[in-house]
Amino acid sequence: MNGIDASASIGIFDSGVGGLTVCRKIAEALPGESLVYLGDTARVPYGSKSAATVERYARACAALLMERNVKMLVVACNTASAFALPLLQASLEIPVVGVVEPGARAACSRTRTGRVGVIGTRGTINSGSYEKIILRMCPDYRVFSMACPLFVPFAEEGWTEGAAITEVTRAYLGELLPHAIDTLVLGCTHYPLLSAVISEVAGDAVALVDSAEETARVVAATLRDRQLINPSDEAGQHAFLVSDAPECFRDAGERFFGYPLERVEWVDVRGV
Ligand code: DGL
Repeated sequence: MNGIDASASIGIFDSGVGGLTVCRKIAEALPGESLVYLGDTARVPYGSKSAATVERYARACAALLMERNVKMLVVACNTASAFALPLLQASLEIPVVGVVEPGARAACSRTRTGRVGVIGTRGTINSGSYEKIILRMCPDYRVFSMACPLFVPFAEEGWTEGAAITEVTRAYLGELLPHAIDTLVLGCTHYPLLSAVISEVAGDAVALVDSAEETARVVAATLRDRQLINPSDEAGQHAFLVSDAPECFRDAGERFFGYPLERVEWVDVRGV
């Protein structure tokens, strides 16, 4: 007995709607689990902020979810995982899973040539987190990284196809593709929405790694290992919390989650 209630919800947080891509994969992989998702929409974006600021925001989000007695915490934001995961893991008694390590691990097992590309926010790329983890696992691999900050607004506005996003994608990947990568990590919550255009520009020789999908596998395995699978036979409940503008979150969020967001509740995420 580990003292954690297996029938409690899994807490998931991100700076806004993006982490719903991760939440969706978790909901699909674990339909019997209840999820409470927090989007810190009052302080989005995290991707352009400093490590100290993102750490502070991540601690506040974690504290709010801990008050709801979650049994596990998923940091469904690449930037927050890059900057704050060790801190949260060290300070909380429950399992804490981020999105960077699962994505890095998947890239290592998928590449055939050992030449891996990583795209993400400025924060994630500047932190070098993906690169560090990939090189720790596979020291002779080569990692080529590129911050793609314009992808986030395109995904949020639903501009996932057409001339404008194709041109932006060509400009970003034009810097990476000459390195002959065979695997590209989508190291930001928003990028799975752009996978069609990214894949079209990158070509068939480049496999895309979706961190969201890999994270859902790690969450399921962690629950099993820690004997924390919900014992109830009923379908899990999904609650959505935001620190600002619930209506905007609902509109954009449904595209990221892929299902209707029935109830979105405003919460006061106090600083810590
Ligand atoms: N969720 C963020 C990430 O995955 C992207 C959006 C933001 O910058 O806050 O890094």
